[in-house]
Amino acid sequence: MKVTVVGAGAVGATCADNIARRQICEELVILDIKEGLAEGKAADMMQTATLCGFDTKVSGSTNDYSKTANSDVVVITSGIPRKPGMTREELIGTNAQIVKGVTDNILKHSPNAIIIVISNPMDTMTYLALKSSGLPKNRIIGMGGILDSARFKFNLSNALNCSPNDLQGVVIGGHGDTTMIPLTRYATYNSVAVSELLDAETLAKVSADTMVGGATLTKLLGTSAWYAPGAAGAALVESIVRDQKKLFPCCVALDGEYGQSDICLGVPVIIGKNGWEKIIDYKLNEAEQAEFNKSAQSVRDMNEVLSTLTLA
Ligand code: LAC
Repeated sequence: MKVTVVGAGAVGATCADNIARRQICEELVILDIKEGLAEGKAADMMQTATLCGFDTKVSGSTNDYSKTANSDVVVITSGIPRKPGMTREELIGTNAQIVKGVTDNILKHSPNAIIIVISNPMDTMTYLALKSSGLPKNRIIGMGGILDSARFKFNLSNALNCSPNDLQGVVIGGHGDTTMIPLTRYATYNSVAVSELLDAETLAKVSADTMVGGATLTKLLGTSAWYAPGAAGAALVESIVRDQKKLFPCCVALDGEYGQSDICLGVPVIIGKNGWEKIIDYKLNEAEQAEFNKSAQSVRDMNEVLSTLTLA
C-alpha cells in the first residue's frame, strides 16, 4: 500500500510520523511546495526507523506529484493554519485555491486514491474537493469529528478523573467552534451513560471546552494544533488500509441522511477499504436535530462563499 501526505507542516509531518511508526503502509510520500522541506522531514523520519522499529519507506518531494503516483490513500493537510483569534472560516480564500490545486494534481497521478481532507475550513474544503474532483462520494473524507471526539473524551476523562480509553463519545456536525455538536446523551463510561455520573453543568462545560478545543490550543501555541490532528488523520488512514471498518465521525457527503443534502458534514461512518462505507444513523432527539440543522446552515453559508471565488 502507498500513502501520500500533502503538506509537510506540523499536521502533515505528525500524520506521516504516526503512519510510519505504526507501519500502516509499505510506502509513504510526503509532498510540500517549500523546497527541501518534505525531503528533510522524510529523511529525519527514516532516521528513526531503527530506533522505532518500522520498515515503512518514507520519502519526500518538493511539489513533484509524479512521486505520489498510484497512492491508495492521500491526506491533504496543505494550506495556511489559523493564528490566535482567527476562526477556521477565515482561511477559506487562500485554502480553497490550494486544496483545489492539490486535489487536481493528486488525481492526475493517483486516479483511484481515497482522499482525506484536513485543511480548514474543513467541511467546506471537503465539499470543494468532492465537487471539483467529481469523485464518487465514498472516496472523499473530511477529518474533523474524529479529532473533536478525541478532545471530547479527553475533557470527559478530566471531569470523571478516569482513563480517556474507558470512554465512548462522538462529536457530529461541523468542525467549527460554534458548529460542532458533542453528543453528551450518547457518551458512556464503560457502558454507563456519563449523564448519570456528571451533573448537567459539568457536562455543559465539557461540551463548551470541546467546541473551542482547537481555538484554545491555537491561543497557547500561536498556531493550530498538530499532535491530535495528525494522529486522527493517521487513524483514518489505518482504518482504510487495514480495512478495519471502524466507526469514526467524519465529514462526508449527505444525501438525505440526518435530514440534509448537498453538503459535507460530520456524522458517524464506517471507514474501510472503500473509504467511508456506511453512515450510521444515531437517532437524534429534537434538540440535537435542531442543532445539527443549525450547524448545516452555517456550513452551507460557508460553502456559498466558494461560488464567489475564482479557482484556477
Ligand atoms: C484543530 C484544527 C486542525 O482543530 O482544525 O486543531
